[in-house]
Parts: sequence; structure tokens; C-alpha cells
Amino acid sequence: MTTAAATTSTAPPGDVAARAGARFRQRYAAEPAGRWAAPGRVNLIGEHTDYNDGFVLPFALPLRTVVAAAPRDDERWTVCSELSDDPVEFGPADADEPGRVTGWAAYVAGVVWALRAAGHAVAGARLSVASDVPVGSGLSSSAAIEAAVLTALVDLSGLDLPADRWPRLAQRAENGYVGAPTGIMDQSAVIRARPGHALFLDCRTEQVEHIPFDLSAAGLAMLVIDSRAPHRHIDGEYASRRRSCERAASQLGIPALRDVPADGLDAALARLDDDETRRRVRHVVTENQRVLDSVALLRAGRVRDVGPLLTASHASMRDDFEITVAEIDTAVEAALAAGAYGARMTGGGFGGCVLALVEASAADTVAAAVAAAYAERRFTAPGTRTVLPAGGAHRVD
Ligand code: GLA
Repeated sequence: MTTAAATTSTAPPGDVAARAGARFRQRYAAEPAGRWAAPGRVNLIGEHTDYNDGFVLPFALPLRTVVAAAPRDDERWTVCSELSDDPVEFGPADADEPGRVTGWAAYVAGVVWALRAAGHAVAGARLSVASDVPVGSGLSSSAAIEAAVLTALVDLSGLDLPADRWPRLAQRAENGYVGAPTGIMDQSAVIRARPGHALFLDCRTEQVEHIPFDLSAAGLAMLVIDSRAPHRHIDGEYASRRRSCERAASQLGIPALRDVPADGLDAALARLDDDETRRRVRHVVTENQRVLDSVALLRAGRVRDVGPLLTASHASMRDDFEITVAEIDTAVEAALAAGAYGARMTGGGFGGCVLALVEASAADTVAAAVAAAYAERRFTAPGTRTVLPAGGAHRVD
């Protein structure tokens, strides 16, 4: 990872894998059997399309969550993390009943729950979690912990479970145990991504294609701008967008909005009776097409030309899906005015991060322009970093 002018980090100092190991030794007075890592993610394009059975194009970040772990003799799980001083311990009864373990440890219990519910014998374990993925910035810190824990427990339990089934299990942990009705994108990205590539995922079939996304070779950089906007009602708003889409699909008599082709959009809109639902549908249908167009451009090596699609995606989220906030729109406008090829909010919305595709030599100028626009509007200063696509979940050692 290189850094731009306004780069900031909230992670504790030191290598994240070393921190996970050190905490394990300190807490349990023993050596971990191994360390397992999973990254955060950003989504290049394809927002709120995953739960509509559509297309997404995320990539993994060079920011990781690492779990150091060792098996124990009984069927219990103890987990400590940088997020709290007190370790959390739970047994099968807690794991089997969603809601019994709460807070950050619910992601760990959720993974145990999802594995057990799928009929797998999960080894009891001691775990220690450390992370460089900021919490609450929309970079999928939750998918990162789910994937790192899942990777560790699959290994420690000796399960014969192919990696292409892991995203569904991690998603089930989040939906069924933690209680967040998210789609399959984040868990797929953090598990299946490859370095130097974006992950083109068909969320209906779960087929993936790794699309070369070599920013450095093209002389480009991707800025990730943390808007620092306080999350406003994100859970309720997310669930309500999802319900609107599902209602619209049922009104149209189709399994999911994925089944409205771009050239069938006008006919579908004409069959819906309220303007808000029409705008929600228009976002999803046009966004699916923008993912397909972006993939075609990347395959042709035309990385810069993806820029206008990113900006169009942002306008669609702002005007039709109505999930952006003032800080986010300010960052996008300032980045574009400073010469970005394209910019958009990434993730679920109502805060989180903005992506800006820029000439590598312009990264500092664009970051400074966004910071200046923020200062003018008296927003909390944004955090900015440049990133290159990284790889998915793996065993560290
Ligand atoms: C969140 C969810 C994903 C996806 C995005 C919006 O990140 O976890 O499943 O729906 O929002 O694209």
C-alpha cells in the first residue's frame, strides 16, 4: 500500500499478525497452532445488487484481520480481541441460539453456529483477533472477522469443506446469528479475491471470474476516502431498501430484480405504481448493467474508461436509491472537480467510504482537494489511503 497526503490509520501500531500472536500468548500462556487472515474489501461497482441476485465487482484490501488460534480439549470457544480487554467464552448452547453471544464476539459465535447448523463438528478453540480493518467505515470488518475465524476453524477442525462454500456459511453467520440482512458480496470478496484482480461475481449462481485490475501498470491509483460520516440508521435503511426491491420483484412476478434486463427497464417501470419503487428498481437494473459494462472495459484494458461508470453509479445511489449523505456527496464532487476519472460511494451507504479513480501522479492533489472541501463545510477531516487489490482469506502460518 502506498500513502497519499492525508493518509490516516486508526489501527494499533505493529504488524497485525504479530499482534494477534502476541495477544494469544499473553492471554492464554501458550503458543497458537497457527494464524489465519482475511482482508477488508471495497466494491468497485455494483451496489445493492447482490441481494437482488445481480452482479458485483469488489476487490480485497491490503488491510487484514488475523486470528491466532489453537484447539482445546473441550467443546468450548474462548476469544479475545483488541476491541475489548475481557475475553468472551461460550459453549454449544450459546452458539446454537442466535442472540446469546452479543457484540463483536457474535461474529465468532455466528461462524460456529453456521458450521454446526450445516452439520459440521467444530473443534473447541482458543482464539485471539487483531485487525487493521477499521470498524464502522464500510470496509467489511465484519466479513473479515467472519472469514478469518471460519478459515481457522475449518483448518483446526479438519473439515473437508471446499472454499467456494465458505462465503454462504459466513453470510449465514451474519444473517442468522448477528441479525444483519446482508447479501453475499462481502463474504465472497474477502474469501475469494485474488491479488491484482477484481472479483466479478454473479450473486445468483455464485460463479466468479477474476478480472485483471492492475492499477499501477496503467499509471493509476485508487483512493479510498473514509467519509467519517456518522452512520445514520444504516441497519433500518438497508433493510427497507431490501424490502422495496423484494416487493417490486414480486409485483413484477419475477424471482428477483436481476430478471429485469436493461432493455426491459421502461416496460417494468410502467407496471409499478409508485415513484419511489420505480426509482429503487431503476437503480438496481442500471447498476447491474454498469457492472457488466465495467467488466467489459477492464477486460479490454480500458481502466480509465471505467471512471464515468463509477460516477454514474454514484448519481444513481444519490438520486434513485437515496443512500448517500452530505459528506459522501462532498467527497465525490471534490474528487471529480480535482480531476478524478470517476468517484462513487462504496458499500451499503449512509456513510462509509468513497472510491476515486485517479492518475497516480494526481493522488495527493485529489486527496488534498477533498480535505479542503471538508474543511470548508466544517466536516470531520476525511481519512484517505491509496490501495491495490489484495488476496482473500488464507492461512498465514
Ligand atoms: C453491504 C452488504 C452487502 C451489499 C452492500 C451494498 O456491504 O453487506 O451485502 O448489499 O452493502 O452493495
